[in-house]
Amino acid sequence: MSIEKLPAVIPFEETIKNFHFTDETDIIDVSCSSSDSLLSESDQHACNNNCLLIKIKEVLHTSFGMYVWPCAPVLGKYIWNNRNRLKDKTTLELGSGTGIISVVAAKCGAHTILTDSKKYGSVFKIAEENMKLNNVDCKNFEIQELTWGYITPFMIKNGQIDFILGSDVFYCPKDFEDIIVTVSYLLKKNPEAEFWCAYENRCSEWNIDHLLKTWDLSVKLIPLEDFGADLFNIAGHDLPGLKTINLFIFKYILTET
Ligand SMILES: C[S@@+](CC[C@H](N)C(=O)[O-])C[C@H]1O[C@@H](n2cnc3c(N)ncnc32)[C@H](O)[C@@H]1O
Repeated sequence: MSIEKLPAVIPFEETIKNFHFTDETDIIDVSCSSSDSLLSESDQHACNNNCLLIKIKEVLHTSFGMYVWPCAPVLGKYIWNNRNRLKDKTTLELGSGTGIISVVAAKCGAHTILTDSKKYGSVFKIAEENMKLNNVDCKNFEIQELTWGYITPFMIKNGQIDFILGSDVFYCPKDFEDIIVTVSYLLKKNPEAEFWCAYENRCSEWNIDHLLKTWDLSVKLIPLEDFGADLFNIAGHDLPGLKTINLFIFKYILTET
């Protein structure tokens, strides 16, 4: 095809992925659908207290937040397994991208705050679409700009947060201190809160121990087998595959004054 015949704008391809969280460790085949319809009543009826079926729209775009990353099914599974802790609590998600993690948290009964960087503004639209695609009531979620390392008026004014959530936010070492600064600020304001974070180990030389010490944070590794996530296929997807993914819980270290 000659250049003159190419369309002026090539649309980015959109897909809808289904994710199916259950208490079982069985592998469930959930095929991708191209439909962007809301979940049917029978889907929702079938998935009440024992399982959760969600739909996530992705756009094959240059921006990292427009599709689901392999860490997300792992953190989603941890949230699902701990759903009793989230009911009527407030979660704040960092680098929320498509919003998959906040959809799971909202479906577990949390009021959810999705955040991402203004620099990647196209993610706000897809996150809102995904909340609506999964029938999350607009009273139960809000979307805010939060660029790691900056303290924004929203962060100062915001009420209590019970859980901070982050799926694949530690992927570029130049951002690590900014993320830790943000997490430390939020946990210091909410000393009982926890930061649940799924991390893909892309380089064995990356280390944040010195940052944790500087910013008064402790971290605990949750073995994947403790919550049935030591599988190739999680929530009906082989996204985690053979990647090394870890689940960490960060807390603020209270110091005597
Ligand atoms: C690897 S993607 C992970 C997306 C999603 N959490 C997931 O697991 O599917 C990283 C996300 O962090 C966001 N992000 C990157 N740099 C950021 C920054 N400096 N401040 C806030 N968000 C940022 C991106 O827009 C993107 O949504």
